[in-house]
Amino acid sequence: MGKKKRIGILTAGGDCPGLNAAIRGIGKTAIVEHGMEVIGFVSGYTGLIYKEYVQLEPDKLSGILTLGGTILGTSREKPFKISQNDGNINKPELIKENYHELGLDCLICIGGNGTMKTAAKIGELGLNVVGIPKTIDNDVWGTDVTFGFDSAVAIATEAIDRLHTTANSHQRAMVIEVMGHDAGWIALYAGMAGGGDIILLPEIEYNVRSVCKKIEERFENKKAYSIVVVAEGIKVPKDYSPGNYIAECITEYTGVESRVTKLGYLQRGGSPTAADRILATRYGSYAAEIIANGDYGLMVAMQNNKLTTVPLSEVEGKLNLVAEDDPLVLKCRNMGVSFGDEY
Ligand code: F6P
Repeated sequence: MGKKKRIGILTAGGDCPGLNAAIRGIGKTAIVEHGMEVIGFVSGYTGLIYKEYVQLEPDKLSGILTLGGTILGTSREKPFKISQNDGNINKPELIKENYHELGLDCLICIGGNGTMKTAAKIGELGLNVVGIPKTIDNDVWGTDVTFGFDSAVAIATEAIDRLHTTANSHQRAMVIEVMGHDAGWIALYAGMAGGGDIILLPEIEYNVRSVCKKIEERFENKKAYSIVVVAEGIKVPKDYSPGNYIAECITEYTGVESRVTKLGYLQRGGSPTAADRILATRYGSYAAEIIANGDYGLMVAMQNNKLTTVPLSEVEGKLNLVAEDDPLVLKCRNMGVSFGDEY
């Protein structure tokens, strides 16, 4: 029997439901199936830089499948970004030293685009790394879906369902601003699932005239209210939040009363959906498997419903964005949903 493999896990970037399911999937596969040792770095890359970690024994992995957030904590630390308040700390050097001092065979980095970019750079230091794509934004290139996305869509959809009743009671245009950074996936999926009448995405250039015309048409057709789903990444004038800007335009140009709900961090909170629990567990388990096989420098991914891997070097600097001809966009349009670009 060779030396027991020792792997280090870290969770970085914005948190989301499913992170603990992924940690559990890695740990149970690595420890139980492959007899490995697992440690978890505290607060993402910060823990790796300053050697702050916990031993992840099986008992630490019990009862966390349904837990939101991350038992390890997270941060948005960028070890390869030089900042003056770092003094003469050489973070990449510290990472390399700590990796070897701790006798690690591989580092698993769970995160979004920024995390994968840093993971690729750590691989270039000559260290073994595997990435797991996580974010509510679903904008990581190379995979069809990230875990966290389904939970955010479920939360946003439930919120939209609730907005229908109050919009109807007051005959208002209710604007809901959802997260997604520069991608419109949450707005598109929750907009379709929640029956949005207008869905504004960063990827489809909208104009206020189209939005207002759609609102007026609906009221002319005796549609008592409208639901407007706005992705936070759409272009709006400086000093405006997307939701507030759209709501103000609607009221100013159509006379229809409007109200704004900014869903914010609710989309990142609470227990993961069943789908996210399964996806996170599969990603975590698969990451442990490829490490057991001695494969590194890869991000696990889901493509056409099949688990696969993509080289971390290929992921860097790319985004998975909504295409104008995405099947959901085309279907929504055919059913009368406006993307604010008709005029
Ligand atoms: O990347 C996830 C995300 O929630 C984005 O949708 C959002 O724009 C961003 O994080 C918020 O960042 P922070 O948690 O640093 O406020």
